[in-house]
Amino acid sequence: MKPIIAPSVLAADFANMQRDIEMLNRSEADWIHCDIMDGNFVPNISFGLPVLAAINRYAQKPLDVHLMIEKPERYLEAFKKAGAFLISVHYEACHHLHRTLQEIKNLNCKAGVAINPHTNVSLLKDTINDIDLVCMMSVNPGFGGQSFIEHTYQKVKDLKQIISEAQADTLIEIDGGVNTQNAAPLIEAGADVLVAGSFVFTSNDPENTIVDLKNVMEV
Ligand code: DX5
Ligand code: ZN
Repeated sequence: MKPIIAPSVLAADFANMQRDIEMLNRSEADWIHCDIMDGNFVPNISFGLPVLAAINRYAQKPLDVHLMIEKPERYLEAFKKAGAFLISVHYEACHHLHRTLQEIKNLNCKAGVAINPHTNVSLLKDTINDIDLVCMMSVNPGFGGQSFIEHTYQKVKDLKQIISEAQADTLIEIDGGVNTQNAAPLIEAGADVLVAGSFVFTSNDPENTIVDLKNVMEV
């Protein structure tokens, strides 16, 4: 099974965003992962609504929006208007996760929940049937280019079991430190979507690196 590949534009050249989005349009990327950071939930600020809307003007692929912001329920409609196809909110940033998921779905967006490395997957048991995608952080959120946390493999297996027991169709997305070394074992453990930022954008041939990730189970 080929994974869904979602390159993260956090690692793109922000001064050449149109060029980099056009490269992703030509490539085998399935989605475009957009990391929104508020300098509060995470110790970094990336970009916000106007930049997402600008990306959306050129993107021909669905925008997978990862909100690393406190109280994300304040901005759901605005992110939908800016072009989001899928909105992931952090488990740790939501007081009323179930309500927030319904609000995302009412906007006709796919509803995702992101979890930090310290958050146990069992906490998603009661909402798993309402979640379209779990964005499992395999680094501490806030920065690109960090090393993959090995414990993630076990978390993917545990989450996969929760999903099958609930007969849910939730996708498992892995975010942080993904490369062609860990992609195959992640897919074997149950991952469906791979986010890759620096591995794609710092490579000599990003388009080809995306092909390598897409076909990682075929080598
Ligand atoms: C980290 C972000 C990631 C990041 C991944 O907070 O959520 O999406 O862009 O970047 P790499 O692939 O470089 O770890
Ligand atoms: Zn992300």
